[in-house]
Amino acid sequence: MESRLLFSAPAKVEGDALVVLVSEREPKLSGAAAELDRAANGAIAALLQSGEFSGRAYELLPLGKLNGAAAQRVFVLGTGKAALGAHELRRLAGALGRQLKGKNLLRFACCAPEQLDPAAAIEALITGALGGDFDTGRYQRDREDKQLAEIAIVLPEQLKSQEAALAAALTRARAIAAGQDFARVLGNEPANRMTPSEMGRRAQAMAKSAGLECELITAERARELKMGAFLGVAQGSAEPPVMIVLQYKGGGNGKEKLGLVGKGITFDTGGISIKPAADMDKMKFDMAGGAAVLGAMQAIAALQPKLDVIAIVPCAENMPGGRAQKPGDVQIAMSGKSIEVLNTDAEGRLVLADGLHYAQQLGATRLVDVCTLTGAIVVALASVYTGVFSNNEEFFAAFERARAASGEKMWRMPVDEEYFEFIRGTVGDVLNVGGRWGGAVTAAMFLREFVEQTPWVHLDIAGTAWLDDPKPWMSKGPTGVAVATLVHLALQSAGK
Ligand code: BES
Ligand code: MN
Ligand code: ZN
Repeated sequence: MESRLLFSAPAKVEGDALVVLVSEREPKLSGAAAELDRAANGAIAALLQSGEFSGRAYELLPLGKLNGAAAQRVFVLGTGKAALGAHELRRLAGALGRQLKGKNLLRFACCAPEQLDPAAAIEALITGALGGDFDTGRYQRDREDKQLAEIAIVLPEQLKSQEAALAAALTRARAIAAGQDFARVLGNEPANRMTPSEMGRRAQAMAKSAGLECELITAERARELKMGAFLGVAQGSAEPPVMIVLQYKGGGNGKEKLGLVGKGITFDTGGISIKPAADMDKMKFDMAGGAAVLGAMQAIAALQPKLDVIAIVPCAENMPGGRAQKPGDVQIAMSGKSIEVLNTDAEGRLVLADGLHYAQQLGATRLVDVCTLTGAIVVALASVYTGVFSNNEEFFAAFERARAASGEKMWRMPVDEEYFEFIRGTVGDVLNVGGRWGGAVTAAMFLREFVEQTPWVHLDIAGTAWLDDPKPWMSKGPTGVAVATLVHLALQSAGK
């Protein structure tokens, strides 16, 4: 999808389709819609009067050719009752693109709503439209392979004076959208194709074209590094594990290094503590955190912020088998801590334990991990909010600024000493499960054992990384969640 900015009065915008946004809240037209309405002699207001259009979110009404407007067709898109923020606009753009595509209108112009800062509006429109255009059906023989061709974002003429800054916002938006797309492509692949080795190859190819350093740690090397927690998960599978290490060297003060660690379980059967059959197919998405980290790195490499970033993605398949680890086994993690594996289905925290430790050994001074870690976070927050945990108020505040800029919904959960008692070991130092209650928190407490004092944020995306049903703004499948926030965090950390 191509994209560009147009500094123009809406009435002067040419092309196949021009879209203006109209809220359900305000009875009066405002912004671009009001301006276009004036140029078209009140044609839009008349329509709203007729009651044909309510302004419900995602409602799209074709007005055809309007006298006074240069575009071939004008559409009004309802924005609903909620206040318009980055999150809402992203979904509106997704739903808009999907509806226009259904009408074979692959090029369109959309007026940026005046309620949002223009840079934020650009990002929401681009990531939303591209996000809605994602194709999950690549293995279907008779699928229609139609993609959006172009979105033009219409901005008021007086913003022309800020053209350079807004062009930079467009570049940033494209990079984030491409990073999300990269993550979703990986997440959409079935597990027989997206094996740990394949994830390594995809990361390597991406690193090469993006200009990142890439190292793939094999099982043999992981043994030398004593990554016992990571290897314990992998040992039940015939697929060899790979730990991906990507480095972005953007300079900066040379002291700070942001470490991004993503869970890369390419399939989670549960291992010997095997999962029920129902919906097990979804567990191909258990590498979504790793994919988000890789997608963010691609965008960071494209945007060149002045800081160093290291990404670590431990990739493995969690399988039962003759060599698989068993409940009760003790594994010695790279950090030296011993882990009692009471449930082999709590494998994400095991691979992350070594990933987080290794990131610090390679110089990471701040850590963010991203993982589809617990069913418990889905019980707590459903598929609406990502669960966030942190051991450091200052880093959390910085993270929260980045999250707000991206418009992704995340809710903070506790990290509190009292929960550690749930996972205190009996034979080893720490248990990999903490019983029935507070499962998302005890999982976070387990990870904290491997970050110790380093400022750290943990994102449990088990509920938000995958849509179980198609939505107006996005197809069923991987969502690319967390990419935008990670990229904003890197940009903000570099003071960009
Ligand atoms: N990958 C799963 C988490 C998950 C579950 C994601 C459901 C999305 C939907 C993770 O590896 C897992 O199996 N977690 C267990 C932990 C338990 C054994 C303590 C869980 O949440 O059931
Ligand atoms: Mn599991
Ligand atoms: Zn898992």
